[in-house]
Parts: sequence; C-alpha cells; structure tokens
Amino acid sequence: MFQKMKTQDPDLWGSDAGEFNPERFANGILGTCRIPQAYVPFGVGARVCVDQQLAMTELKVILSLILIKFHFSLASSFQHSPTYRLVIEPGEGVILNIRRI
Ligand code: HEM
Repeated sequence: MFQKMKTQDPDLWGSDAGEFNPERFANGILGTCRIPQAYVPFGVGARVCVDQQLAMTELKVILSLILIKFHFSLASSFQHSPTYRLVIEPGEGVILNIRRI
C-alpha cells in the first residue's frame, strides 16, 4: 500500500500517475512531484526493486564511459549557491561545459 501510494499516487504525480511517461521529468523532480521527498526511484517495502544493486552498478559503468569520453568544466555563468535541503546541494544547479576528448 505504501509503495503504491508513493509511486502511483495521482495526488503526488498527477492524473497520469499510472502511465509510463519519462517526459514528466523534463523539468526535474520539482516540476513533476508535488512532494519531492516522495520520489523514491527504486521503491521501498515489500515491492522494492529486486535489482537495485545491479541497476546502480550499470549506472556507474555508464557514468565511467561518459567520463572517459568527455571533459567537463564549470561554465562561466555558474553561480556557487550551496543550499541546505536534505543534503547540501547547488541551489541553482550546476551549469557545465562538456567537450568530447
Ligand atoms: C534504473 C533502473 C531501475 C529502476 C529505477 C527500478 C525501479 C523499480 C521500482 C520503482 C519498482 C517497484 C514498482 C512497484 O511495484 O511499485 C521495481 C520493481 C522491480 N524491479 Fe526494478 N528498477 C530498475 C532496474 C531493475 C533491473 C535492472 C531489474 C532486473 C534485472 C529490476 C527488476 C525488478 C523486479 C523483478 C521488480 C518487482 C519486485 C517485486 O514486485 O517484488 N529492476 N523496480
């Protein structure tokens, strides 16, 4: 019940909560979920994703491949704005220049 409530609750995610719609994240979590803390990507409780560890390992492999092929640097328009939320994070995001190596 808790799992269903978090991942498919129309009060949190809108009337299309039950549909597969990656575009809902086009404006980030704040742009789609009424309570950002309710976004629990792998779920919780009895129906938690059984292969969260594999998925996270795959994501690290993908990130490693990206880091091998591209060089990242801060854009001149980046403003340092540490913000206290659940953790300290960049308040206005991080604007990066990306160059293929
Ligand atoms: C980024 C990758 C992934 C995300 C975000 C994700 C997310 C989730 C979520 C939210 C659920 C719970 C759905 C619900 O009942 O409300 C779930 C369930 C499940 N996931 Fe994943 N998953 C990912 C990758 C994987 C992979 C790689 C596998 C297997 C190779 C996998 C296997 C499963 C299975 C079998 C369940 C059903 C668990 C159950 O009902 O007891 N997932 N996943």
